[in-house]
Amino acid sequence: MAHGLLQGKKGIIFGALDERSIAWKTALRCHEEGAQIVLTNAPIALRMGKIKELAEQCGNAPVIGADATSNEDLEKLLQDSMQHFGSKIDFVLHSIGMSPNVRKSIPYTETSYENFHKTIDISALSLHRVLQACMKLDALNEWGSVVALSYIAAQRVFPGYNDMADTKALLESIARSFGYYYGFAKKVRVNTVSQSPTITTAGSGVGGFDAFYSYADKMSPLGNASADDCAAFTALLFSDATRMVTMQNLFHDGGFSYTGISLPIVDEIRKAATNE
Ligand SMILES: NC(=O)c1ccc[n+]([C@@H]2O[C@H](COP(=O)([O-])OP(=O)(O)OC[C@H]3O[C@@H](n4cnc5c(N)ncnc54)[C@H](O)[C@@H]3O)[C@@H](O)[C@H]2O)c1
Repeated sequence: MAHGLLQGKKGIIFGALDERSIAWKTALRCHEEGAQIVLTNAPIALRMGKIKELAEQCGNAPVIGADATSNEDLEKLLQDSMQHFGSKIDFVLHSIGMSPNVRKSIPYTETSYENFHKTIDISALSLHRVLQACMKLDALNEWGSVVALSYIAAQRVFPGYNDMADTKALLESIARSFGYYYGFAKKVRVNTVSQSPTITTAGSGVGGFDAFYSYADKMSPLGNASADDCAAFTALLFSDATRMVTMQNLFHDGGFSYTGISLPIVDEIRKAATNE
């Protein structure tokens, strides 16, 4: 149910590839909440994905290609978006992740550093690039809100998540550090949302994802948070209802992060032991 939370606000959504993408659901939610949006993704994803369908569902939102590792593309995206809106921007969703090591199943202990650099550039430094470009062009309104998506592998080890774990730790740190500077400079807020495992193209590419997903679901008192739940929470973070929240990593995971062990998991282990 929409509440008109984002009436009059204007935002950029990075990373909607297909209808499973967290960014796809977030774009729809922001539109329902009254926002005007611009959609963006890497040029290759625009060719392969279905973003035009989403644009139509979001009031014919413009789609502007930008590689998140290119300062030039990012500055052009911000300039074109401001021209489209006729004003500065109120919110940005960074929903970008890609690891060549994960994609090619190269184990963490045998990493290719060329791949590792790419993972960091695409999945973490891109947040710094977006924020730096916003600051340089003074593209965000005061009390603007920037959200990037993270995962609990930033704090705890999840084998198979590979170099994305270190990269998410960096992403969360960039949100804190830039949040400090942008807060003092322009009252702009920067947060990360640490989301439950979610069945998407990026998510399913992680080795053993099915096990991660069902383990987290059984460990979380509320179960796994869906992409729709994440979209609703993110829209709230873009709204004035959360105007004093910044530099935080917010767990959106049904309670997973604070659960040591759950009875459903204990029961499974007991059952497996009895069957042996
Ligand atoms: N799916 C999960 O289980 C899960 C859990 C926690 C956090 N996340 C995070 O959520 C975010 C969105 O992922 P998703 O699960 O919706 O998967 P997704 O595959 O739908 O989205 C990832 C997006 O990143 C974009 N991207 C990749 N390289 C890019 C580049 N160079 N420039 C611009 N865009 C680029 C892709 O085109 C794609 O749209 C990621 O940061 C991911 O790590 C996902």
